[in-house]
Amino acid sequence: MPLHVAALCGSLRKESFNRKLLNVCIELKPADMNVEVLEIRNLPLYDQDLMDAGGNDATRLFRERCAAAEAFLFVTPEYNYSISGVLKNAIDWASRPPSPPMTAKACAVLGASGGPVGTARAQYHLRQMGVFLDLRFVNKPEVMVGAAQTKFDASGKFTDEAGRGLIKDLMANLAKLAAKLK
Ligand SMILES: Cc1cc2nc3c(=O)[nH]c(=O)nc-3n(C[C@H](O)[C@H](O)[C@H](O)COP(=O)(O)O)c2cc1C
Repeated sequence: MPLHVAALCGSLRKESFNRKLLNVCIELKPADMNVEVLEIRNLPLYDQDLMDAGGNDATRLFRERCAAAEAFLFVTPEYNYSISGVLKNAIDWASRPPSPPMTAKACAVLGASGGPVGTARAQYHLRQMGVFLDLRFVNKPEVMVGAAQTKFDASGKFTDEAGRGLIKDLMANLAKLAAKLK
């Protein structure tokens, strides 16, 4: 059975570099891996009262799809030196009992930003959240795409050859870590 990975992208905009980067991950993933992109746009802002009442259709479906995943892929922009609010909100919805659906699963993170450090600060915030979530991160390679506006051509192709190699390695390492944790 192919490894089932759920992917979350922290940017909602149509021309998002991070969404394009997610497409590159799908292009370069190992053959025996499925990547399901979970849409997080329609999740309400986290509200414990709504959670206690069983959530709504969007939160229930999201948690169900997270539960069905064997591993996660986070593609994050950097917003004010952290991950975006929409991504944090989605993770918050997935983080609560009963049976938090990310617990003890393998995950990988990468991201693209306009700045020079390519979401490094956001990625380390996400790794910090992963401690509480008990997520198991792939440590290396780190894929931090800086100056993203210079690395995608008009058709959306990611033109950084070294970066493509790193993404291929990251996806392969995600598969290896997930297999080890099974
Ligand atoms: C609210 C906000 C905060 C931002 N903060 C940062 C930041 O801390 N560091 C950075 O490198 N870029 C920052 N940016 C610029 C983003 O890197 C840039 O908009 C990028 O294209 C967002 O990712 P996307 O293309 O996937 O939407 C910020 C953008 C927004 C909208």
